[in-house]
Amino acid sequence: MKLPFKTLDDVDYAGKRVLIRVDMNCSLNPETKVITNDSRIVAMTPTLRELSKSKVILMAHQGRPGSEDFISLEQHTVILRKLGFKATFVDDIFGNKAKNAIQNVEVGHILVLQNVRMFEGEMKQAPVEEVSQEPIVQELYPLFDLFVNDAFGAAHRSQASIVGFTAVLPSVAGRVMEKEIRVLSKVIAEELHPWILVLGGSKVKDKVKIIGKLLAMGRADNVLLGGLIGTLFLIANGTIPNEYGAPIKGFQEVLGIAKELLEKYSDVIILPEDAAVERDGKRVECEFGEIAGDPFLDIGYKTAKKFGKTIRGAKVAFANGPMGYFEKEEFTHGTVEVLKAIADCNCITVVGGGHVSAMAQRMGLLNKITHISTGGGATMGFLTGKQLVLVDALEAAAKRMDA
Ligand code: 3PG
Repeated sequence: MKLPFKTLDDVDYAGKRVLIRVDMNCSLNPETKVITNDSRIVAMTPTLRELSKSKVILMAHQGRPGSEDFISLEQHTVILRKLGFKATFVDDIFGNKAKNAIQNVEVGHILVLQNVRMFEGEMKQAPVEEVSQEPIVQELYPLFDLFVNDAFGAAHRSQASIVGFTAVLPSVAGRVMEKEIRVLSKVIAEELHPWILVLGGSKVKDKVKIIGKLLAMGRADNVLLGGLIGTLFLIANGTIPNEYGAPIKGFQEVLGIAKELLEKYSDVIILPEDAAVERDGKRVECEFGEIAGDPFLDIGYKTAKKFGKTIRGAKVAFANGPMGYFEKEEFTHGTVEVLKAIADCNCITVVGGGHVSAMAQRMGLLNKITHISTGGGATMGFLTGKQLVLVDALEAAAKRMDA
């Protein structure tokens, strides 16, 4: 497959000062804030190894401003060191402290800048020309020879650190980005059915929109829902009360969308039929009529079995996000059963999102799944056939480099 952008194969980076944007947004333990899943960091190590003869400055985000996983990148730097890289962290993004550190980076070393989302302008999404004017880009780009973007997981975000540098520096894709585009392009080119989407986890606003698009284009034959996104739809059809929507951001808006989708596609969207709740610190199975306001932390056994059966009959199965409150071992059952079915199913399987990929790894299923994607929203966006903004930006940069 001919890629529309340039990769590390097309440029000379030895001895050069290279800015690399990666997606090492990790899941954290909500209480201790310790990283619980470093799979995205591990995934980018091939790119970093290839750059071992360059001076590497690494830029990334963690969480979103105001979210509980919005933390510094110090822990990520420690993980990079444990993985064998000479990595240091600077608590700055584009101020003097960062600029001095950038100028002093030696060949074979990696300097990790502070979480880019600590710069307010980073959350703005706008066309490439506009975000390239943000100070993060204007202050930093003169210090670099090359921009490598390996942040596939954030490739749908038109933000300064993702696409802004592509307008002002020679820019190529890293190995994660390259592999994801190659594999996912092949997968979506296959017109196989039944095509099953299994969605769980949070980021409900993004997911509800993607479900709408995938159903409108007739790609998905069934959408199986668990996690917070499943909770939303159970509220929308009146199975459980509105109070369960408290953790969902923008609840009223997404509730309206979920209701509309249920009206149009009630035969395609498959919701949990029973629940696992937490009572006295323990997992208790119950019907929705008996849920009694208790924390709904996983799909129940009956639902897990039904989801498993549907997945085993698929020709293509995509799974993204856990079915339950993954951080507590007793509530991993639904996710584990979904993964077992995905591994058993004789079909094309793609698993995305950090939690589920980490679980697949723990269960030793990696070689039974067609592709483990580092993307969450980016992978889902790709499935809708919409070109990712980063792909467009890298394509434009490639044309400029050839001109
Ligand atoms: C992800 O976790 O999907 C990516 O890191 C993008 O994060 P975002 O949805 O906060 O932009």
